[in-house]
Amino acid sequence: MRENVPWWKSGILYQIYPRSFQDSDGDGVGDLRGVIERQPYLRELGVDALWLSPIFPSPMEDFGYDISDYTGIDPLFGTLADFDALVAAAHDFGLKIVLDLVPNHTSDQHPWFIESRGSRDSSKRDWYIWRDPKGEGGPPNNWLSEFGGSTWEFDAHTGQYYYHAFLRSQPDLNWRNPEVRGAMHDVMRFWLRRGVDGFRVDVMWHLIKDDMLRDNPPNPDFVPGQQPYEQLIPLYSTDRPEVHDVVAELRQVIDEFDDRVLIGEIYLPPAKLVAYYGRNLAGAHLPFNFALISTPWNARAIAKLVDDYEAALPAGAWPNWVLGNHDRQRIASRLGTDQARVAAMLLLTLRGTPTLYYGDEIGMPQVAIAPDRVRDPWEKNVPGMGVGRDGCRTPMQWDETAYAGFSVREPWLPLSKDIALVNVATERQNTASMLSLYRALVTLRRARPELALGGYRLVSVADDLLVYAREHQDQRSLVALNLGMATISLEVRGHVLLSTFMDRQAEVIDGLLSLRGAEGIVIEP
Ligand code: GLC
Ligand code: MG
Repeated sequence: MRENVPWWKSGILYQIYPRSFQDSDGDGVGDLRGVIERQPYLRELGVDALWLSPIFPSPMEDFGYDISDYTGIDPLFGTLADFDALVAAAHDFGLKIVLDLVPNHTSDQHPWFIESRGSRDSSKRDWYIWRDPKGEGGPPNNWLSEFGGSTWEFDAHTGQYYYHAFLRSQPDLNWRNPEVRGAMHDVMRFWLRRGVDGFRVDVMWHLIKDDMLRDNPPNPDFVPGQQPYEQLIPLYSTDRPEVHDVVAELRQVIDEFDDRVLIGEIYLPPAKLVAYYGRNLAGAHLPFNFALISTPWNARAIAKLVDDYEAALPAGAWPNWVLGNHDRQRIASRLGTDQARVAAMLLLTLRGTPTLYYGDEIGMPQVAIAPDRVRDPWEKNVPGMGVGRDGCRTPMQWDETAYAGFSVREPWLPLSKDIALVNVATERQNTASMLSLYRALVTLRRARPELALGGYRLVSVADDLLVYAREHQDQRSLVALNLGMATISLEVRGHVLLSTFMDRQAEVIDGLLSLRGAEGIVIEP
């Protein structure tokens, strides 16, 4: 069925948070051998590509998003040989491997930064963003770190401040320096030559900052209780026009190799987000579209969001959708498990590449983390603001044994309390489970070109009902979602391909369809 389109258009991405997928060596932390062990599951699930959150040497202050060596594997996760074995095993299955590229900042333990902070005339001084104190002293401008506090850290040894958009142990690289660009391009080539199928680029919209480091304006909509970062509009610190040249260069490196993908992590509204496809689509193939994560869960809001996003897409740009990741609340807890099933159908029937977050396919919840078990540095910096990211990073629930089949000992983060019910082994036996629903949706999407590749057309939206059509040549599917809990009837003819309740396959609808509360349905008209 796969027509002559790139895999990242027709396929489904699956994000693995390696610390929490499978522990193979009994240290309570997931690793690469663990991912290899679980390949049969991934094949059964039917996804096309795995994106691994960072696996490189790191002090782990931000769990791998603080890298001290871009071309190695952290011993916690294994060795380069394990990585090569993973790529080989995945490719044997026809699974692609996408790595996380974190080009915006390094760890303060990276040799580049150690060299840079050594002296004002270090050959690497300009690889980072160093500035003199302003006036009588104090930071160079008013910018705020996403993780709380100033973005500027004073370094007494050389009497200057360095810039960090995140933790102070994550100094930002200076992307205005061509040597930095060249070094990062070589990092990409290192992995692409090893067979990696592409990159998800961390905080792509942060890469270049204003050359004059102008103060950010206050945010007039800020209300106390919001994240401190929200006090200012990050006008000069993010999403600068020059970033698009940087992205175009990353894409050129990707294009030196066949059939690779460039994905960007970008939290911006649709109109600004789509600029990351680049002039003449020479930027990111897929600038991540996170809009579903924050949109209110009602039919009108979602219909409008899809329309706005579709309308904003440049000609020829390929859309994509995401419901969750390692930074945001789990969908099953945000919506409840009933609506999470509707959300699964939405994600897998919209036009554009879907990205699944490990565990969402079994309905894993956001796990409550006791204060003494908090690991997330953001939560530690800005406590009690509800940003804690540990709860969506807990170990994958494979079965109901002591450590959920994840490890033979106490894992690095607590397991959820519901492992007896929410786990792969149990759900595999249950034909109506969340896992069975995800598998059915993936199978349907793979079997039906209109779902994988066809156009999207809004049919109707009213109260809790959202109906849209997907069309490709003479093939057609109609999707009807009940975003409320009451029964809704609608006029339609056709036969049922799939219900989120998993109990109406092949049912013929000859005029009136009754959708139960939180039921979604795909019909062949
Ligand atoms: C991205 C990552 C997040 C990390 C941050 C800083 O947003 O997804 O986990 O903390 O970048 O690298
Ligand atoms: Mg381990």
